[in-house]
Amino acid sequence: MFMLRKCVLHRVNSVAKRPLSRAISSYVAQNEPIYVYDSQSKERQELEEKLKLYDSKPFDHQKKLAKYSYANSDLIKKAIDVSQAAHRTWQRIPLEQRADIFLKAADLVSGKYRMDLMAATMLGQGKTIIQAEIDATCELADFYRFNVQFALNMVKWQPLSTDISKNMMVYRSLEGFVAAVAPFNFTAISGHLAGAPAFMGNVVLWKASDTAMLSSYVIYKLLREAGLPAGVINFVPADGPVFGDTVIKSPLLACINFTGSAKTFQHLWKQISDNLPKYRSFPRMIGECGGKNFHFVHSSANLESVVNGTIRSAFEYSGQKCSACSRMYVPESKWPQIRDRMLEEHKKIKLGSPMQADSFLSAVIDDKAFQRIKSYLDYAKSSSGISVLAGGKCDDSIGYYVEPTILQVSDPKDKIMQEEIFGPVLSVYVYKDAEYKDILKLIDTTSPYGLTGAIYADDSNVLAEASDALRFSAGNFYVNDKSTGSVVSQQPFGGARKSGTNDKAGAPHYLLRFCSPQSVKTTS
Ligand code: ALA
Repeated sequence: MFMLRKCVLHRVNSVAKRPLSRAISSYVAQNEPIYVYDSQSKERQELEEKLKLYDSKPFDHQKKLAKYSYANSDLIKKAIDVSQAAHRTWQRIPLEQRADIFLKAADLVSGKYRMDLMAATMLGQGKTIIQAEIDATCELADFYRFNVQFALNMVKWQPLSTDISKNMMVYRSLEGFVAAVAPFNFTAISGHLAGAPAFMGNVVLWKASDTAMLSSYVIYKLLREAGLPAGVINFVPADGPVFGDTVIKSPLLACINFTGSAKTFQHLWKQISDNLPKYRSFPRMIGECGGKNFHFVHSSANLESVVNGTIRSAFEYSGQKCSACSRMYVPESKWPQIRDRMLEEHKKIKLGSPMQADSFLSAVIDDKAFQRIKSYLDYAKSSSGISVLAGGKCDDSIGYYVEPTILQVSDPKDKIMQEEIFGPVLSVYVYKDAEYKDILKLIDTTSPYGLTGAIYADDSNVLAEASDALRFSAGNFYVNDKSTGSVVSQQPFGGARKSGTNDKAGAPHYLLRFCSPQSVKTTS
């Protein structure tokens, strides 16, 4: 069933096991200290004395992994000044030279730092070995390499000559700085939120997630080692509201590059709109927010593919991928078969420490996530319209463990079918086969999000109908495949509605969001 798992496991076991365990033990032993934006600065010593926060392990929450401290508002303002000094030079460095730095960084990601990134992602974010590898090394290196390729091609589009004048388009960076606000769930997304604008000649203040601090810091260090000058990306651990308030008050804010909740993104946008007259330029808002991703199954679908895809999408990384399937619609005629096969597969998947190679999923990220998911499970257990078919238990005595859970709901509009849970909870609604057109409408209108979705069918008329009915329901739409696992450049990622601005990380036009192009006409 899990071919990908087997291939990657084989590679990890044969090539990387020893260096990976060395990297893991070095973090366990050291409590790696993390410093704020400029490793040479005086603040480093001051902060060292005040280190007080810890990045912990989700699967063993008493164990500390890395220590860091928050930058206060003054330090964030200093980071803005440092960034502006660096910008004077950085924005004038030719694209080809910036490309060399990011290609070197990609090589460090997939070479020298591969084990560090995997170890930090496994220990700090609770990813299994396979999930850590596809995220922290493969996807991150892909982002940097594809950005270079796209940007170099973009420069080739430049000449716009006519007979009487020479015309060209200059891809300037934005004026000011970019604030990158990163999530915990993908090391690659964090490294890309900061890396993509920097590569396009911008300077960045990077607020990594409190619960993914170490892996982001490893990326910061390797970017510097690849030749990124000091001050271009400023690593700024900070309290969310303090960071938000400080950067939003700066007239030099040029862009927010954000991945996180729709609520926070809306809040930032509103604060920015209140400040609009103060900015030198209108700040760009780039956001990837939540999802309530669906799998729609038609009676003509290949059932094994449905079962395989749904178990992986809903439960890999404990449903904490923004793309994870959390609502499923199954025709009555096929439900007994699908249910029995899903329950069979469910029994085989192991919940455990990410340090054990056979764990399929591990603990959820922190206490807040644990409590949120638990409250949905408590609600489901106490609701007469919901049956718990598998899982449903939680235990936070050692780590924040939540069993992969399958629920069957009788009301397709139940809140469990509408709200983002962001945990290993799959809700299934069984519909009457003849009513599938109504179900397509229901899928489209049940949740405010539009991130990912999948349809499973063999009937070409149904595929065409469903693709049309759901055209705005998902920014990443999969036909006969699961809703997770987008590949950079092949399925650029992002959604509209309350899922974000749909700027599509991993696509050429994403990079244009970090450019302020100038048209130049020269007449001789
Ligand atoms: N790019 C990630 C996925 O598609 C979020 O699963």
